[in-house]
Amino acid sequence: MSILPPAEEKAVYVERMFARIASGYDRVNRVMTFGLDQGWRRRVVAAVAPPVGGRSLDVGTGTGDFLPQLAAWSRDGMSVGVDFTLPMMVEGQHKLDVLGSHQAAFVGGDALRLPFPDNSFDAITTGFMMRNVTDIALAFRELHRVARPGAVVACLEVSRPRYLLVRVGHRLYFEGVVPWIGQLLGGDRRAYTYLPQSARAFPSPERLAELMGQAGWHHVTYRLHGLGAVAIHVGAKV
Ligand SMILES: C[S@@+](CC[C@H](N)C(=O)[O-])C[C@H]1O[C@@H](n2cnc3c(N)ncnc32)[C@H](O)[C@@H]1O
Repeated sequence: MSILPPAEEKAVYVERMFARIASGYDRVNRVMTFGLDQGWRRRVVAAVAPPVGGRSLDVGTGTGDFLPQLAAWSRDGMSVGVDFTLPMMVEGQHKLDVLGSHQAAFVGGDALRLPFPDNSFDAITTGFMMRNVTDIALAFRELHRVARPGAVVACLEVSRPRYLLVRVGHRLYFEGVVPWIGQLLGGDRRAYTYLPQSARAFPSPERLAELMGQAGWHHVTYRLHGLGAVAIHVGAKV
């Protein structure tokens, strides 16, 4: 049975869901991905290669897992994480405390109407957010608007393995086991039932690349990781 909300209720549904699961979010992520998620984020940050002294943006930042890595690359630059679920950012605040406010900060805001002027950032990342927005094309246009010419964007999202056997195993795990991991470690089976269902409704990697191109991003490429369970798309603003 589908638990996906209708489009007009999705933003409120998503914000409330992440507010509910914020305290267990990182723990469930590590367990459910067998610890692979941080390696995927490292690949994303390496793909955008934030320049030293530059400004980086992580959209749908959640608990801010990308920010220490972005800050490490840009060193005396500034890394900003934006999200509309405040409890997620509160939960991740300790990751920024060790960095200092001149290096990294959280900002409350909507990915579909980013609170930044045009041409503001040298590197933009987003991880596991695009599934949750009501308008993926608009989100990529917003990312493009706030990117400086020459900036690179990288998007990490769930995907579906290509090979039949892996695909079947992945589906059994994602739809059968992950909701129980969410229940046991995050106390919320419903949120981790939404996860595989929203992944099923998400565009294929080919289609996502097309949407990025239509939003203005150039040289769009993608690679699959985790046996095809996730895709990393990369594009540039010219
Ligand atoms: C699955 S979490 C991903 C968090 C983090 N990027 C990571 O890699 O773990 C999705 C995040 O996207 C945020 N989000 C979803 N839609 C959003 C929107 N329209 N504007 C801002 N944040 C949004 C949610 O609040 C949530 O924190």
